Formats: sequence, C-alpha cells, structure tokens
Amino acid sequence: MDSLAPARLVDRVPEVDARRMAASLVPPRQFVHAGLDNYRPDPDYPSQQGAVDAVRAFTADWTSPPGGLFRRGPKPPERPGLYLDGGFGVGKTHLLAALWQQAPGRKYFGTFIEYTALVGALGYAAAVRLLTGSSLLAIDEFELDDPGDTMMMTRMLGELVASGTRIAATSNTPPNALGEGRFAASDFLREIQSLSSNFQTVRIDGLDYRRRDTTGSAVTVEPTEYERVVTALAGRGETVTSDGFQDLIAHLATVHPSRYIKIIDGVDVIGLRDVEVLHDQMAALRLVAFIDRVYDAEIPIVQSGVPLSDVFDDEMLGGGYRKKYLRSTSRMIALTAGELPPHDD
Ligand SMILES: Nc1ncnc2c1ncn2[C@@H]1O[C@H](COP(=O)(O)OP(=O)(O)O)[C@@H](O)[C@H]1O
Ligand SMILES: [Mg+2]
Repeated sequence: MDSLAPARLVDRVPEVDARRMAASLVPPRQFVHAGLDNYRPDPDYPSQQGAVDAVRAFTADWTSPPGGLFRRGPKPPERPGLYLDGGFGVGKTHLLAALWQQAPGRKYFGTFIEYTALVGALGYAAAVRLLTGSSLLAIDEFELDDPGDTMMMTRMLGELVASGTRIAATSNTPPNALGEGRFAASDFLREIQSLSSNFQTVRIDGLDYRRRDTTGSAVTVEPTEYERVVTALAGRGETVTSDGFQDLIAHLATVHPSRYIKIIDGVDVIGLRDVEVLHDQMAALRLVAFIDRVYDAEIPIVQSGVPLSDVFDDEMLGGGYRKKYLRSTSRMIALTAGELPPHDD
C-alpha cells in the first residue's frame, strides 16, 4: 500500500510568504493552553511564584474590568518591558505565552529568530509598520549572538515602546542545570542599553520541568527495529517521515532556516536512519535550528545509528556554540524518549 509508505522530508521545499509569517506570530501549538493557572510554581524555588506575580502585575490593567466611579482600575506597569531570565525548562516560554494570552487586541508572539526573519523578509520599515499599534510583542529566546541582529531588534523595540507597545522577552538558555554559559539579565540589559531602563527583569530558578525523570542519552534503535517502527506507525495512518540522516542534513542546507517549520508541517513522527556524528559546524548549526522547530511542534523522533545526543563532536562542544549544542542535545533526548509501538505477537 503505497499511500502508507513514509514520506520524505527532503521532498518538502517550503516558500516564503511575508503575510503568512506575520499571521504565524502566535504561541506554538503546545503553549495554546499555557496559563498562569496551570503553571505550578515549585515551592523549593520561590522565584517561580515571584515570576507568576510579576506577570500578573504586568498584565493587571489588561485583565481587570475598568474601575467604577470611585474606584480606579489597576495602573499600567511601571515599565513597559518584562524580561524573564532563567535556566532551561523552568517555564519561561509557558509564562510568556500566558502573558501574551492576557494582552488585548493585536499582539504578537515569536522567537527572536522569527522576528529577525520577518525583518529579513519585509525589510525594517515595513516590519516596524506592521508591528506598530500592537499591545504586546512577546519575544521568546532573545539572542545576543549576532551584534547586527541585536542592534536591529533594540532599535525596533525602541520605536515600538515609544508608540505604546509593551515588550516581554525570555532568555535563551542551555540545558545544564547550573546555567553555565547562559547570558544573564546583566548581559541582556547591557546589550540593549538604550532600552534597559524600560525593562523589569525577573529571575526564575528551578529544575527542568520536563526532564525530572528522563535519562542522559537519546534513544536509538537497531536498523530492523527502525524499519518495523516506521512501517507500523505509517500503517496506523500516522504521517511518518523517514530519511537518511545525511540526506536530511544535505536538504537543510538548501532551505532557509526560517522555513524549516514548513518542512515538518503536519508530520506526526520523524524517522531518521543511520545518524552519524557531524564534523561540519554549519551542518550542526542547521540541525540545531531544525531540532528547535521539531521540539516546538513536539514531533517525536525515532532514529537508528549513533544516538542523536552524540551528533556534535568534541570540537563543537568545546567551541563558542557550546550552549546551543547542549540545548539541542537535551531537546533531542526529550524527542526520542517517546514510547514505540508494541510488537504484534
Ligand atoms: N511550573 C510549571 N508548571 C506547569 N508546567 C510547566 C512548568 N514549568 C514548565 N512547564 C511546562 O514544561 C514545558 C517546558 O517549559 P518551557 O516554558 O518550555 O520552559 P523554558 O522556556 O523555560 O525552557 C512546557 O510544556 C511547560 O508548559
Ligand atoms: Mg522556552
């Protein structure tokens, strides 16, 4: 039955569409139900409750009914910007999505990379025009890697804040619990200096909520088991893809990273055969960007070959992108940790 055979990611070549890009500036699917009510602050880390309180204060004038004759409604926050700084998996994106839900009218939610891609596609002036007049710009995983992008974003945020838009942002963090290598609130404020007085920063401590009980390596299976699993999943009617790892790596080089999200659109499970250790930094960075999109979409991966958690070689892990690779490794561990379909007996 041909229709049930796995499709191939390398056959999917998405195109740019600026208006669609703007319309897609909403929280990723799995954060649609993220709220302040279902954020469970860890009592061992009081800063988590503190973050919830800070988000509530930031949105108080949006969420309360207007005051009556003798009673005024809550005032807008003292500063128009909120920066959630914290380690990996403590719920920064969850809280950012919850905050976004509270904002009235036109509002946007995207990763730092999505906003830079928007500016890349529309041009600076048109991107600013598009975003102007919105109540909130939520920026997940603010990056300071590229000075040009940081400057451009700082300038854009300055214009938007001046015209009344509020900004909420989160830090971009590696998965190790101590947050080593992570840029802290002080780096963020220094880099966006002209804006820094507009931001209240909130530090969130804690453990990765998702990985309280996962192990330290991606799950890889033998080639025959791999074939059995992708065939079984496709036979159940799920949209399963199956690609040779090197084929996918080569394909990613031909598609702009802002369009990786389209490559995986509608896919339920991703199969990757014969994973190998990478030695090319550019290929590795493209894989990181691809895995980020897969992770946002919560698409499980089944793989054979070297565990995905080992694809970055020692030189990469010792270099300047160490934190990116560690974050990606953690994401790949989580993505391969799903349950495989049972054998029929
Ligand atoms: N305190 C919490 N209560 C409920 N869910 C949480 C909490 N912290 C994190 N999560 C959930 O765990 C997952 C990871 O959180 P996320 O917001 O992506 O972390 P971060 O952005 O800080 O890395 C999400 O699905 C989120 O909804
Ligand atoms: Mg996040």
